[in-house]
Amino acid sequence: MILKRLGDLAAQPADPLLSIIGAFRADERPGKIDLGVGVYKDASGATPIMQAIRSAHGRIADLETSKVYLGPKGWPGFAEAAKGLILGEGEAAGLSGRAVATPTPGGCGALRLAGELLRRGRPDAKIWASDPTWANHKPIFAACGFEMVHYPYFDRDNGLLVEPMLAALEGAAPGDVVLLHGCCHNPTGEDLTHEAWSAVSDLIIRKDLLPLVDVAYHGLGDGMDKDLAGMRALIARAPEAIVTYSFSKNMGLYRDRVGAIMFLGQTKEEAAAVDTHILAAARQSWSMPPTYGEALAYLALSEPALRTAWIDELAGMRARVAGLRAGAARALGERFGNDRFGFLTRQKGMFSMLPLSRDDVSALRDRHAIYAAPDGRINICGLPEDAMDRFAAAVADVVGA
Ligand SMILES: Cc1ncc(COP(=O)(O)O)c(C=O)c1O
Repeated sequence: MILKRLGDLAAQPADPLLSIIGAFRADERPGKIDLGVGVYKDASGATPIMQAIRSAHGRIADLETSKVYLGPKGWPGFAEAAKGLILGEGEAAGLSGRAVATPTPGGCGALRLAGELLRRGRPDAKIWASDPTWANHKPIFAACGFEMVHYPYFDRDNGLLVEPMLAALEGAAPGDVVLLHGCCHNPTGEDLTHEAWSAVSDLIIRKDLLPLVDVAYHGLGDGMDKDLAGMRALIARAPEAIVTYSFSKNMGLYRDRVGAIMFLGQTKEEAAAVDTHILAAARQSWSMPPTYGEALAYLALSEPALRTAWIDELAGMRARVAGLRAGAARALGERFGNDRFGFLTRQKGMFSMLPLSRDDVSALRDRHAIYAAPDGRINICGLPEDAMDRFAAAVADVVGA
């Protein structure tokens, strides 16, 4: 339908997660708890600027003498440092010669460039994503003209659905793209086990599928190397792979929009040619990447003292998340008298999905001032340590236990 005026466009429905922010702010009840928004929070409920980033801020004033364009590769050294972080220092580091990295505005920018690259090189491919997956995957790839199909991944009764996932991916055609979460799966917290990564990798290689790994929570699961072990082993076997990386969570750089896309080609020359397409796609959208946050991330990665401070602080955040998981599982276990919520300690990263219907989520908000995402996803970091029993009692109340 062609509209006479753009003003005739009907308004878009509000983003359910963003509307939780507004509703939470407006709620005047004391002791309200926000488990909806997907950002890291410390024990005081704040999302702090990390120490390494604070120190880096101080340095930039001297380093940055002009705001003139820096070019498509952004802050010098950032893209290579991001590539180093993605590949690590083990065996996958050997892939560096046939991998290219480009800075992007956040992980979303990287995903968008991945979509634009696929539009150029694999326009007929289907993109296979987990059911469920992060809510923004589908719109980003749809905007690039791709149909997203889902493989079974998780259900609340059985956890990870490895066999159904493999069976569904058997239906993929050569050249189709398999979107995987590098670690700390959003929204379920359920990561592929070591065995599942190898089985999925075998299938991807055998069927000549293209892996696209989205890494947005590196360091918040089990550790810097452990979190990416499955992904690194997969791409080491794949002729081609795409990795999208976000620094929003693990460096706390949310609003500075820092991310990268890495393409791994069969040869150095092929990777370099693909890079020209990635850069052309960036040029058509934001032209040049924002570099302030890149500079912060680069300093945190490349100055040994800052890197140590960053890794240590991230380890503290990871330990806090694990502690909150254990605390919530304990409180729920005591309240329910069974291990129904034991999955909380097995899952990784900030998110888990509670067995709550939409009505339960509404009741949790209305009766207990506890805000979760409509699908039952909770951000573990939003749970105050001293509110575990109250939280468990509220969950028991809404599910009728
Ligand atoms: C799975 C996943 N991928 C990518 C992103 C992109 O993050 P950003 O664009 O804020 O860096 C997020 C953010 O929540 C995410 O959860």
